[in-house]
Amino acid sequence: MASELPPTRWALGGAKNSGYGVRFAELISQGKDIDGEARLADTLLDRGARVLDAGSGIGRVGGYLQARGHQVLAAEPDPALVAQSHDLHPELVVVPLEILALTPEAVAAAGGPDSFDLVVCVGNVLTFVADGTEVAVLQRLRDLLAPGGRILAGFHLRGGPSTARPYSPEEFIADATSAGLRIDHRFGGYDLRPVDDEYAVWLLSLA
Ligand SMILES: C[S@@+](CC[C@H](N)C(=O)[O-])C[C@H]1O[C@@H](n2cnc3c(N)ncnc32)[C@H](O)[C@@H]1O
Repeated sequence: MASELPPTRWALGGAKNSGYGVRFAELISQGKDIDGEARLADTLLDRGARVLDAGSGIGRVGGYLQARGHQVLAAEPDPALVAQSHDLHPELVVVPLEILALTPEAVAAAGGPDSFDLVVCVGNVLTFVADGTEVAVLQRLRDLLAPGGRILAGFHLRGGPSTARPYSPEEFIADATSAGLRIDHRFGGYDLRPVDDEYAVWLLSLA
């Protein structure tokens, strides 16, 4: 199924996007804090919750949450990042699929649960999906939520990667609403700073 899907902006960016994995490897070796997103996610959860890390990259968020006892499934279509994730977090199960391919059957085949308490979709994933698939991606994530489940999403509004799309708050709110999601909160960062025009962190739930 994945081969029938339109190419993501991440895939189209090719080598231009390779800096992400390299940069985080450096940050880790320098002992820098790369866990802000994961700490906020953990705060949102009961212990032992079901988490989907959608577009998990090197597994930094999913790996952190799994180490704190949550039941995490990661989904990452870039094979180089899947390999880096396996090296860094061998226990984290990564299904090598795009979000649009994450049907309940695919999740079950990967050993995942029927639904999730939290979907984490951070680090600009939503600005890297294939052009025109934003609402479908958000719908797919919505359909994987358990009752009371939430989505934590975040992306740059300014100064983001050159291969990612610009995504205005107004467009995102319209897309999320079309996908049957409610905007519960918007912040300017994972430390819950006030809304600004640089970065947007969103908490979404079933409308
Ligand atoms: C900058 S990386 C961020 C990775 C990770 N979330 C993090 O914060 O470290 C962007 C990621 O978006 C993923 N991505 C883009 N479109 C996607 C899609 N349709 N489904 C799943 N992942 C996607 C890419 O494969 C890439 O891993």
